[in-house]
Amino acid sequence: MEQTQRVALVTGGARGIGRAVAARLERDGWSVVVADREAADSVPGRLVQADVSDEAAVGRLVDGIAAQEGRLDALVCNAGFMIRKPIRELSLGEWNAVLGTNLTSAFLLARAAEAMLRRARGAIVTIASTRAHQSEPDTESYSASKGGLLALTHALAISLGPDVRANCVSPGWIDTRGEALRPEDHAQHPAGRVGRPEDVAALVAWLVGPESGFVTGAEFLADGGMTRKMIYAE
Ligand SMILES: NC(=O)c1ccc[n+]([C@@H]2O[C@H](COP(=O)([O-])OP(=O)(O)OC[C@H]3O[C@@H](n4cnc5c(N)ncnc54)[C@H](O)[C@@H]3O)[C@@H](O)[C@H]2O)c1
Repeated sequence: MEQTQRVALVTGGARGIGRAVAARLERDGWSVVVADREAADSVPGRLVQADVSDEAAVGRLVDGIAAQEGRLDALVCNAGFMIRKPIRELSLGEWNAVLGTNLTSAFLLARAAEAMLRRARGAIVTIASTRAHQSEPDTESYSASKGGLLALTHALAISLGPDVRANCVSPGWIDTRGEALRPEDHAQHPAGRVGRPEDVAALVAWLVGPESGFVTGAEFLADGGMTRKMIYAE
């Protein structure tokens, strides 16, 4: 029997933003597959333990979805991590590891899932960062990976359209670990607060849903307005 429920793959969905995205899509009626390199006790949806920077693992992951769910309507490329180190201390291996997870995985996943996504007239959402546009010191590999991911997303929108839409969400400061936030941490945001994983999840839900059909190749900042704020030293 043909699977009629829409199917979403969320990478890095064992915790943080990815977990919130998976939970939101499940609540919205999607069948969700979470891919994460960590084992996790309870995740929304079906968990596949996979390192998405690994070509063979991505192949197995996508083949498994074809076999088990039988379709793929949404690919959310969320897995990512940061190494913060002075460039003189950053090894080539560390650089490649960050690029592998944050950027190359999206290429591997989009390539492997192209046929299923086209068939479903589906959508890709990548999770970049405001750091694609601005930087703190010692974040070269992360910033480069996120800038690359943003560009990869518009390239995919052009190559895979009109069958598949591809958009990028760039979060700012999102509190995923229940940090001890100070009043000034909230106050420095034009929106008046630090972001929550659910803020990003709501945007992703809209971008993979039926109401964003005219939106592709675009970037959406979910940063409480921080990148629009001019700062002069006192
Ligand atoms: N939290 C923020 O403030 C923030 C801001 C901007 C962008 N982002 C981006 O949002 C995404 C999620 O961030 P988060 O804060 O929720 O991170 P997190 O560290 O809380 O969770 C990331 C998840 O991805 C998984 N993961 C990492 N590498 C993987 C790999 N190679 N294969 C499979 N799974 C892998 C981890 O195991 C983890 O479960 C990342 O791409 C991050 O760069 C986060």
